[in-house]
Amino acid sequence: MKALIVSGGKGTRLRPLTYTSAKQLVPVANKPVLVRVIETVRAAGLTDVGIVVGDTAPEIQRVIGDGSRWGINIEYIQQSAPLGLAHAVLESEAWLGDSRFVMFLGDNVIQGGINQLISEFAHSDWNAQVVLTRVAEPQHYGVAIIEDGHIVRLIEKPRQPPSDLALVGIYMFDPHIFEAVHAIQPSWRGEYEITDAIQWLIEHGYRVHPYIHTGWWIDTGKTVDMLAANVRVLDEIEPYCAGYVDRDSAVSGKVTIEKGAEIINSVIRGPAIIGEETRIVNSYVGPFTSIYHHCVVENSEIEHSIILENCEIRDLPARLEDSLIGRNVVIGRSPVKPKAYKMILGDHSQVGVL
Ligand code: DAU
Repeated sequence: MKALIVSGGKGTRLRPLTYTSAKQLVPVANKPVLVRVIETVRAAGLTDVGIVVGDTAPEIQRVIGDGSRWGINIEYIQQSAPLGLAHAVLESEAWLGDSRFVMFLGDNVIQGGINQLISEFAHSDWNAQVVLTRVAEPQHYGVAIIEDGHIVRLIEKPRQPPSDLALVGIYMFDPHIFEAVHAIQPSWRGEYEITDAIQWLIEHGYRVHPYIHTGWWIDTGKTVDMLAANVRVLDEIEPYCAGYVDRDSAVSGKVTIEKGAEIINSVIRGPAIIGEETRIVNSYVGPFTSIYHHCVVENSEIEHSIILENCEIRDLPARLEDSLIGRNVVIGRSPVKPKAYKMILGDHSQVGVL
């Protein structure tokens, strides 16, 4: 079986971070979501991996490389335009050939991996398998109606969802999917929907098997979802300390301190991760916080946040919470009069002041 990871698209809901970076490369617990997807696929024994890329192809290729670091082969498939997930499959047809394959959205994080799903599908005569899970707001997803254990209908982002079973961004197909992606028309949002292609399979008598996932699953498309994924993943990672903690600091709970990080006169309360060469000085880092590599946090308090690389956060008068801070951001007090907020913010930034 092959794996097709879909990692193009626009990422408009994660702006401003996605102005400068692919959304699939934003780290959750200090590891890009796309790397988590690759590791999940690798753990299921798949070594032939295609990654569908769009405008952010150069950055993705630079970070991910040829796959040798995971002992797999990675082939990049350039999508001509982000015209939908079925279009991504269509443009991957030559690479996929007549293999059965798993398609995994490059911005999804799922608990427990996909090993069992892959082996069930590989040994079945199903034409497709879709992963479903119960969600609170099904109108934001593809939704399935199941009767007597069979999928009878799939609808993409219905205004009035007929069920709470959402399509998780993990699908398994045999080559009949190509008949479907060639046959369907664009949806109301102008995309060739994979949901419509699977509906086409059902209507043409192919066997589409539903699998209901009961663990957690997060589509990291929006800021709140990134923070939620960070909470889930931090809670599950094995803590370790490869950095330095001085005698005046207190570290408790599940905390990972990466190589070269320094904790000076500070309190770190896990689950939390402190990245390589990052310095935490006279500060408090609270639960569910990921601070990436090469940052400085001084005289400040941070909780339930994701901070990307090379940030400097100093002398904050109140705690920073529920925040997603991009790369190379400097936050500090300004001693120069007049006493005022002074900000240089990119488009679509959001700031909450006290
Ligand atoms: O996350 C699960 C949902 O994913 C499903 O419930 C929906 O049925 C499915 O359509 C999809 O909906 P989204 O609106 O969340 O998909 P999104 O546009 O965010 O794209 C998912 C990934 O695929 C993302 O990594 C970008 C990439 N992509 C997307 C499109 C439309 C491409 O590479 N090419 C594309 O043309």
